[in-house]
Amino acid sequence: MRIYKVGGAVRDRLLGIPVTDIDWVVVGATTEEMLAKGFRPVGADFPVFLHPKSGEEYALARTERKSGRGYGGFTFHASPEVTLEEDLIRRDLTINAMAEDDQQNLIDPYHGQRDLEARLLRHVSPAFAEDPLRVLRVARFAARYAALGFTVAPETLELMRQLSESGELEALTPERSWKEISRALMEDQPQVFIEVLRACGALKVLMPEVDALFGVPQPPAHHPEIDTGAHTLSVLEQAALHKQPLTVRWACLLHDLGKGLTPEEEWPRHIAHEFKGLKLIKAVNERFKAPRDCQELAMLVGEYHTHGHRALELKPSTLLELLQSFDVYRRPQRFEEFIAACEMDARGREGLEERSYPQADYLRGASTAARTVAVQPLLEKGFKGPELGEAIKRERLKALKAYKEQV
Ligand code: CTP
Repeated sequence: MRIYKVGGAVRDRLLGIPVTDIDWVVVGATTEEMLAKGFRPVGADFPVFLHPKSGEEYALARTERKSGRGYGGFTFHASPEVTLEEDLIRRDLTINAMAEDDQQNLIDPYHGQRDLEARLLRHVSPAFAEDPLRVLRVARFAARYAALGFTVAPETLELMRQLSESGELEALTPERSWKEISRALMEDQPQVFIEVLRACGALKVLMPEVDALFGVPQPPAHHPEIDTGAHTLSVLEQAALHKQPLTVRWACLLHDLGKGLTPEEEWPRHIAHEFKGLKLIKAVNERFKAPRDCQELAMLVGEYHTHGHRALELKPSTLLELLQSFDVYRRPQRFEEFIAACEMDARGREGLEERSYPQADYLRGASTAARTVAVQPLLEKGFKGPELGEAIKRERLKALKAYKEQV
């Protein structure tokens, strides 16, 4: 039995990036031998084990990664005869298909190191097509390593295009897709993920609602960048620059979907795009089974982002409705995330990235004003049930009027 370090750990060590996760491949062993050494199987019918002490993943060298049941929806062929080279050739990218032995010797039959130096994300072999999720993975790596100058090799982009056209992406489970999407959105340059998906035609398959935004103009007075797709990418870029959480990044990506539905005669205006976009946001949310907090924030930001921008002009009654819609009394953090998404939207405009966004503090102040209304005195006055609700609302409105006058 021979054991090699493989995949991301080898790649990131060569790039000088801290390694968190180590994957190992085991050549010349059987399942029985692994179990006898105390390794714990990850599941019943696939050849991946956890080390009894470190908990790291050890996989038997394998060929054939066909779609099917089993580990993450796959079936494998593993046997002690499978060589390291046979295992590596079926991996996704050359930079992920390097191995290291226990003497730190590099085993690099498919020239991963050369591609690392050339800053190229290149597939190893036609076996790339065995797993369509790799289209998303490559786009994610492109987002992660964009700052280091990495790009997708033209022949790999072509293969990704073929996979996207073949209809195979539709077969991906929402869970696997979401895992890639959410990880990609948390990279430093998440806009590159969307750009690469668009360049290979995968965006049209996965999120046609986002793809449709490219080529749709907005009024140049508010949006010097004009194109709605370009704007969406800039908003995402700002969200990453400002280290926003996943919920905010997801909401940023989907906030303007309604603009893709505007009839061309109405361009560049987008009347009621906030409302029209809601059914599209819901559809994308459900397609990927996004977590509940992501779904909720995307819907709320879609509906109310222009309220955020007009915050200083809103009547106290409209402000109150906005705060009620967000249930700021019980969910103050969600309202903070809404404010952040609005600010990223405002900053994601060409030449306006550094402009201040006074709406943010104004909204925070309004939320504090409404939240400080005390319920106890109203209870003491004898209000109950729906009347109590009305009385609280009246007091909150009073507080917001006073707030507006004082600011
Ligand atoms: N791999 C693959 N195809 C996939 C998933 C994984 O070929 N669909 C291979 C790659 O060789 C990859 C290794 O399995 O390097 C480990 O996969 P994973 O842990 O998902 O990725 P890492 O490359 O370690 O990257 P990350 O830093 O994102 O964890």
